[in-house]
Amino acid sequence: MQYFRDNIEKLDGYQPGFQPKQADVVKLNTNENPYPPSPAVLKAIAQMDAEKLRRYPDPLGDTFRQAAAEVNGVSAESIICCNGGDDLLNICFRAFCDEGRPVAYPMPTYSLYPVLARLQNCRAIEVAFDEEFNLPPKLAKTEATLTVVCNPNAPTATFISVDELASLADELACVLLIDEAYVDFAEDNCLRLVKDFDNVVILRSMSKGYSLAGLRFGYGIAQPPLIAGLMKVKDSYNVDAVAITAATAAIKDQNYFRQNVEKVKKDRDILINQLRDLKFKVPDSFTNFVMAQCPNYKAGHIYDKLIQRNIYVRYFQQPGLTDKLRITVGTDEQNAKLIAALKEILSE
Ligand SMILES: Cc1ncc(COP(=O)(O)O)c(C=O)c1O
Repeated sequence: MQYFRDNIEKLDGYQPGFQPKQADVVKLNTNENPYPPSPAVLKAIAQMDAEKLRRYPDPLGDTFRQAAAEVNGVSAESIICCNGGDDLLNICFRAFCDEGRPVAYPMPTYSLYPVLARLQNCRAIEVAFDEEFNLPPKLAKTEATLTVVCNPNAPTATFISVDELASLADELACVLLIDEAYVDFAEDNCLRLVKDFDNVVILRSMSKGYSLAGLRFGYGIAQPPLIAGLMKVKDSYNVDAVAITAATAAIKDQNYFRQNVEKVKKDRDILINQLRDLKFKVPDSFTNFVMAQCPNYKAGHIYDKLIQRNIYVRYFQQPGLTDKLRITVGTDEQNAKLIAALKEILSE
């Protein structure tokens, strides 16, 4: 007897970026922030009352909802706390998709979406981006019951304008999930669409701009009726007491957050120029990573040579991506090591 459902048997599963065990590596492969979280985070954890661990956490994470509501200028009822942005993706696929209810998204994009579609046994309508990663007009015309747009997009680092996404939200009869995991590093965001459209859900992550990838915390923003529906689907205690405390401290420290993000953006723009000088083709990035098309298209070769030097970046063997590397913006020192290694490899 086959124990698993057929679609699970056939599923490859999501491939997370490699997490090397040694400390002496330059790790630029999973888009973590190179700087630590706000000192207020560790302080808040240290000051936690043991009683908070003895008891179940607040099922809704209301202290975080309140803080995130203030930062975003929305009501707390417009916010759902999640165990990382991935949890919200999972909740949305479970809420809106099944065998008869397909999902649609542009390609290439975050490689978790196809996995969630397979898990849910729903059809995935994958609409190709053009060469410049513009929003494909066909995306507005599918029969999907959930449309997902990652903006800024991963792994391309590109940004679709808020006006274009407003038109898409207007045209679609289904829910439009805008995955803004990287939006802290962009110049604009789609928050204002939540006011105008009852079908828009915005995903936010605390992993990138707030340096809390290890904590697992994210949140969704939408009009209250949509949030109330998503609440029915989430695990009852999907965010734990430590995570609520830490994420609340992080989002309240907007000064630290802004400085952290500005530093990463500045270093990103320097890195892009250095890569372009080495003849990589790099679109402008609106994230904390860059997508670099390799000179002579030898991305796999460069990737292997970087690993030999203990430098890890991401290489996707997927249509449209085999000539490209996705590189997370690191510290000044890490970025300098990467550029020095690339110079060596390209001159071999
Ligand atoms: C495009 C995109 N969306 C969502 C996530 C989820 O982030 P997290 O679960 O760490 O909040 C990631 C993580 O890398 C991502 O790249």
